[in-house]
Amino acid sequence: MHILVLGSGGREDALSWRLSQSPSCDKLVCAPGNPGMARWADRLAAIDPCDADAVIALAREEAIDLVVVGPEAPLVAGVADRLRDEGIATLGPSAAAAQLEGSKGFTKDLCARANIPTAGYERTASQAAALAALDRFGAPVVVKADGLAAGKGVTVAMTREEAEEAIREAGDAPLVIEEFLEGEEASLFAFVAGREVRFIASAQDHKRVGEGDTGPNTGGMGAYSPAPVLTDALRDRAMDEIVRPTAETLADEGTPFNGILYAGLMLTADGPKLIEYNVRFGDPECQVVMPRIEGDFAEMCLAVAEGELADLEILLEDAHVMTVVVAADGYPGTPRTGGAISGIEEAEEDGAIVFQAGTAEKDGELVASGGRVLAVTAAGGTLAEARDAAYAALGKIDYVDGFARRDIGWRELERAAG
Ligand code: AMP
Ligand code: GLY
Repeated sequence: MHILVLGSGGREDALSWRLSQSPSCDKLVCAPGNPGMARWADRLAAIDPCDADAVIALAREEAIDLVVVGPEAPLVAGVADRLRDEGIATLGPSAAAAQLEGSKGFTKDLCARANIPTAGYERTASQAAALAALDRFGAPVVVKADGLAAGKGVTVAMTREEAEEAIREAGDAPLVIEEFLEGEEASLFAFVAGREVRFIASAQDHKRVGEGDTGPNTGGMGAYSPAPVLTDALRDRAMDEIVRPTAETLADEGTPFNGILYAGLMLTADGPKLIEYNVRFGDPECQVVMPRIEGDFAEMCLAVAEGELADLEILLEDAHVMTVVVAADGYPGTPRTGGAISGIEEAEEDGAIVFQAGTAEKDGELVASGGRVLAVTAAGGTLAEARDAAYAALGKIDYVDGFARRDIGWRELERAAG
């Protein structure tokens, strides 16, 4: 099988690494890829993954049998639709189904139609309407921009004043005003092909830049899988009450979903409730899920892309995996790029893997080129063992212009320690 992976982040490096190990993978092309992905790929192609014409031309040139789309932007732009129109098997939803991530209002309305547990909400299209909605919800309350906002655009307002400020800043932009949910968050990843759904794995990430989960939001500073808070019983409820009805409703309405569905859940006293959907793997959650998957991952992805889930079995290794993100100084603000990175080979000597995100090669040297730079990933029999292995590997990396959180997994580690 010839496989094309679209994207260039740590998530795509992990996907490429896992796909390249599949016995059925004969050729791996990444577009545009990064220096980490060059370690597993037969070729990196410098094209824009949102440019459907360029992606189709590349797929033809390389006789690609399967395209795996990493990030959301090409999906929202309809690249998967164009590939499927050309008869190229693609793991990733249509633009219509990708609205699950692209439009919070779309997802909330779907939840209402399908009776899916989620926070109560109101969509508003003017400042006056949003302020009126505040009167009904009271505080705490959540104010969300109704579009693709890269994890920004959400204000969890503990007071009415904070909520009013967020509404004023948004002007008359469309918003979703939402009931505040209390509980612990967990991420659930599932394969979806039309009405068929299969649980892949659970994970938790750390979105805040600072230790103790403080400071501004980021794309994610670290993650671990599994997330033991999502017990088997809660997983089954989330699949039955949230993921499956979503797949069925989309299929019923003529916009079936194909690909990876990422459900951001709040585990409330009343059970799991949906906070948000993403239509792709999480980054850095993918980096901790890929090492746990047993068997031929490329065959699994092809089966989903072709809508043939009947024989699909997903076996997970009985291991805990942690990843620690190394970011460039300044992130999530303007990152300081160009800093030299070395020691990756040494870091990988004891079985850890260092996935790359914002890296580039300059004069034969590896340098930082973006906000999140590396994801140092290790497995263990317990989360504490995985943590020790990941931080031991991190200690061998020489990258003076970067930083990492020292407390990834703290909540779960404290719980496990009793
Ligand atoms: P979202 O982009 O919708 O995932 O929101 C970003 C973050 O805001 C989530 O990961 C939660 O931590 C928080 N959040 C979003 N919606 C709610 C809610 N209804 N209640 C409490 N926290 C929320
Ligand atoms: N780590 C959060 C995300 O990928 O959206």
